[in-house]
Amino acid sequence: MCAPEHFEVSYAINPWMDLDNPVDADRARVQWEILRNTYLSLGHRVDLIDALPGQPDMVFAANGGLVVGGRAYGAKFRFPERAAEGGAYAAWLTGHGLRVTEPAHVNEGEGDFLALGTMILAGTGFRTSLPAHIEAAEAVDRPVVSLELVDPRFYHLDVAIAVLDDGNGEAPADIAYYPGAFSAHSQRTLRELFPDAIVCSEADARVLGLNAVSDGHHVVLPAEATELATSLRGRGYSPVPVDLGEFIKSGGSVKCCTMELHR
Ligand code: ARG
Repeated sequence: MCAPEHFEVSYAINPWMDLDNPVDADRARVQWEILRNTYLSLGHRVDLIDALPGQPDMVFAANGGLVVGGRAYGAKFRFPERAAEGGAYAAWLTGHGLRVTEPAHVNEGEGDFLALGTMILAGTGFRTSLPAHIEAAEAVDRPVVSLELVDPRFYHLDVAIAVLDDGNGEAPADIAYYPGAFSAHSQRTLRELFPDAIVCSEADARVLGLNAVSDGHHVVLPAEATELATSLRGRGYSPVPVDLGEFIKSGGSVKCCTMELHR
C-alpha cells in the first residue's frame, strides 16, 4: 500500500474525477488507515511504498504492477500524469527480491490484471493495451483471458470484477461481476467461465462495490455496496465493509489501494 500523503484530485483522467469535488486530505488519511488496519486485523501483512510528491494517484497501489508466483510484470501508465509511478513500483518490487519484467506495452498492473486459479483475467478498452495481455502472459507465465471493457465509468477490470476466491485452495474460483461493464462477447466469456458467479447490480457497481479484496473468506469491500454484501453473506463469505468515500472521488476504492503479492 502507499499512504495518501500526496493524494488529491488535481487532474481528471476518468469520469469519477472532478476538479470541483476536492479530496478532504484528513478524511482520506483516516479512511486509508482504517483499510490498512482492517488488513492487519485479518492477519495479513502490509508492506508500504514511499509516496512520491507530485504523484497524487500513487495511493492506488494496484496499478503499480502484477505479481504472481514470484514473478512480476511492471506497469506502464496510459496517461503521462501517472508515468513516474511505474519506475517507483518496479524499484520497490526489485528491492523486495522479485524479478520484474519491464513492460513495452501500456498496462496498469492489477487494475486490469486479476490472478485467478492458474490464469489471469485481463481487461482492455480504456487503459491496458491488448499487446500487454500477451506480454503479461509471458512475464508471469500464465494463460491470459482478454476481456473488453466498454463503459468509461468502469475503466479498469478491478472495478468490474471482484475475485472472491482465487481457486488455489479447496474451493473453486469464484467471482462477482457487473455484466454491463463488458462487451457482449466478453459477457458471454464470463458466463461460460463462471456460470455460478455473483452478478452485481449496477447500483452496487456504481459505488465501486466490486473493487474489493478477498482472502477467500473475508471480503473487504466499499460499505455502500449493501446488496453485494448480502449476496456474499448468502454464499458463506464474511463481508468487511469499509468507507473509502474520499478515494471514490478519484475513481478508486479498496482494491485500487492494494497491490496483492500473489504467491
Ligand atoms: N485516479 C486513478 C486513475 O484514474 C484511479 C485508479 C484506480 N485504480 C484501480 N486499480 N482501479 O488512474
